[in-house]
Amino acid sequence: MDKILVHGGNSLAGSIKISGSKNSALPILAATLLTREPCTIHRVPDLSDTHYMLQILIHLGAQVERASGIVTVTADKVQSVAPYDVVRKMRASVGVLGPLLGRCKEATVSLPGGCVIGDRPIDLHLKGFEALGAAVRVEGGNVKVFAPKLAGAVINLRGKFGPTVLGTDNVMMAAVLAEGTTVIEGAAQEPEVCDLADFLNKMGAKIEGAGTRRIIVEGVSELHGAEHDIIPDRIEAGTFLVAGAIAGSGVTVNRVEPKHLTAITDALSGCGFKIEAKNQAITVSPNGAPKPLEITTEPYPGFPTDMQAQMCALLSTTEGISVITENIFPQRYMHVAELKRMGAQVQMEGSTAVIQGVERLTGAPVMASDLRASAALVLAGLKADGITEVSRVYHIDRGYEHLDEKLSELGAHIERVKA
Ligand code: EPU
Repeated sequence: MDKILVHGGNSLAGSIKISGSKNSALPILAATLLTREPCTIHRVPDLSDTHYMLQILIHLGAQVERASGIVTVTADKVQSVAPYDVVRKMRASVGVLGPLLGRCKEATVSLPGGCVIGDRPIDLHLKGFEALGAAVRVEGGNVKVFAPKLAGAVINLRGKFGPTVLGTDNVMMAAVLAEGTTVIEGAAQEPEVCDLADFLNKMGAKIEGAGTRRIIVEGVSELHGAEHDIIPDRIEAGTFLVAGAIAGSGVTVNRVEPKHLTAITDALSGCGFKIEAKNQAITVSPNGAPKPLEITTEPYPGFPTDMQAQMCALLSTTEGISVITENIFPQRYMHVAELKRMGAQVQMEGSTAVIQGVERLTGAPVMASDLRASAALVLAGLKADGITEVSRVYHIDRGYEHLDEKLSELGAHIERVKA
């Protein structure tokens, strides 16, 4: 298993290009199952998660061609069973349930197991399928959904932690081929949901309201092939902006959509950093002593849970007391114990982290536990004295395209060691 060694202390400067969004690419690749015709998707990031999704599509019968970020999927014939072996590596595999149900009127997919960021049920996805007329059975570790036909319905997808992103995607993908009109209330408003709706509309679907709390889907009898560019990854961009804030003298992320990043850039401005957004680029630079902050994670357009760990790393070295409250995944704090091993002073009170900023962290061997927690450890290492050795790097490779190489481009002293 590879390790990443971060030699702390280098100042970052310059610019990097942001990749296509992982959380857009995964459901959009799944959506290609909705048509027999070829679909071509541009800017698919080269990540282990997108590889897993393509393996699932191949298992289901699709033909896949991939070259430099361009993926063509032709799902001329599909079968509707995705067993444990094929889906166990990635929770987002549940995203094939909706398109398979829409196209085949049945789907059997192994249930996702536990996840280190907390309990991740799919009850809301299933509630949506049931409302469309599907029967749901859970047996032998699999969830089976089937319906002689799907009929439009009014569905409220809001759960106790707010809207569900993949749940909204899944129900939208099943509803595009249902008879009649589906209204999804309490829909997730994330840009990735809008990107999926844009792609589905290019395939001939009739979806309105994506990006608001109410999505209206007018069912159609079939979809056709389409071509689509994935939106820039706002979480990758946010991660590099935080890297720039932690250790930079002026870092620019290019090919981003600044309006998708407002919550993150507002937080960094609140911390005292200078933010300049121009067209498709954002620059973060120091502007006096950074200030502590209070942040609460919320559904979009609020501060994203996927940036909580990285902010925790930044605030660990920001003088004063900062407070982070995690509202989406209350247990998503695996990075805290590792940051403490580097000298961070963090006290947990339920789903709130109270952080007393320290002047410097010290490098240490640390263990990556999930994607964003791992990124946070690398970011903390940029500012730490000595070497931070991050093991279990495969977590990073699930969701960041060449994180170490891009940080090197900005001047970080970072190396990947093959074990
Ligand atoms: N929830 C339920 N029931 C459900 C579904 C969700 O109670 O049926 C709860 C969850 O437990 C959580 C909240 O609702 O408390 C929101 O979860 P959501 O369903 O929105 O999460 P997701 O769709 O499974 C996506 C991203 C995550 C990101 C979350 C929240 C993808 C592939 N994953 O997950 O991304 O954290 O939305 O924004 O889109 C990551 O990229 O590191 C990552 C974990």
